[in-house]
Amino acid sequence: MKTILMTGAAGRIGTFLRLELAGKYKLRLSDIKPIRNLHPGETFMRADISKLADMLRVTKGVDAIVHFGGQSGEHDWDHILSANIIGFYNALEAARRNGVKRFLVATSNHAVGFYRCDQTIDHRVYPKPDSRYGVSKVFNEALASLYADRYGMEMFCMRIGNVNQAPIDRRRLAIWISGRDMAQLVTIGIEHPKLHFEIVYGISDNARAWFDNANARRLGYRPQDRSETYAKEILTRDGPAGTSPADIYQGGGHCMSEGGTRSRLAGVPDSAPKKKRPASRSKKVAPKTPVASARKARRS
Ligand SMILES: NC(=O)c1ccc[n+]([C@@H]2O[C@H](COP(=O)([O-])OP(=O)(O)OC[C@H]3O[C@@H](n4cnc5c(N)ncnc54)[C@H](O)[C@@H]3O)[C@@H](O)[C@H]2O)c1
Repeated sequence: MKTILMTGAAGRIGTFLRLELAGKYKLRLSDIKPIRNLHPGETFMRADISKLADMLRVTKGVDAIVHFGGQSGEHDWDHILSANIIGFYNALEAARRNGVKRFLVATSNHAVGFYRCDQTIDHRVYPKPDSRYGVSKVFNEALASLYADRYGMEMFCMRIGNVNQAPIDRRRLAIWISGRDMAQLVTIGIEHPKLHFEIVYGISDNARAWFDNANARRLGYRPQDRSETYAKEILTRDGPAGTSPADIYQGGGHCMSEGGTRSRLAGVPDSAPKKKRPASRSKKVAPKTPVASARKARRS
């Protein structure tokens, strides 16, 4: 049985994948946060990806690395630099020095978030990052390409949409991926006999996708889940798309985010301010559907 290192294993995708990959692999889980509820077949090694010595220690003796550790959304530059630029370099360089060839990169739709929602893009488009976070993912893809070409490493870059139990809004109808489809994609990245450098999109079989995921299909990906199952409920609730950058561009809110505050983009009007909810509607109610409970989880 192969031993797989999963960095960022305490995070959201790591938690989904530990369930989905149980029994298939020996999982070496790593994170800066402790993981205490280990299941059979799992071990834990604490490591800070911003420290090369830590990464040299945890990457020793594994068959493949699934790299989920780091900052998973927009943040200030120092944070992005340490977690997603220096941290990513450390993970890849440690893998190279320890002779681990197969490396799965958790890149993001935000590497190409400034393409418009009325465009269909494939894995060959040039990057159009929508944020500092998106730029860090472009860097990840570029470094992975260098390590494939120069050192013969086998790189599988997954431009992940949004992993959740169900899509949470109109935008996620295009980019949602279920836990089991994510696990299928990761398994292809680990097992495919012939990989050099590939970019695939991490989405389920979504009728409203703006990604042409032919490259993933070519490598054997057959997603089992479809966001359309949830479309009626979401579109009834969300209504028609607005005219703000968050509605026009694929990256959604990241296209306007300054790490918490929102800034106006030149030439693109913001949507009308949202109406205040009546007091009776602002009361918290227990989620009733998969969409409602998925909305309680953090977005990306
Ligand atoms: N969740 C999604 O839908 C989504 C979409 C696109 C891309 N991604 C990418 O997939 C990866 C995993 O996403 P996630 O949603 O599980 O993120 P997450 O934020 O839930 O988990 C990231 C994990 O990385 C760990 N981490 C952060 N800094 C670290 C450091 N210096 N050293 C060691 N560990 C550190 C955190 O403790 C956390 O457990 C990220 O790279 C993210 O950018 C996720």
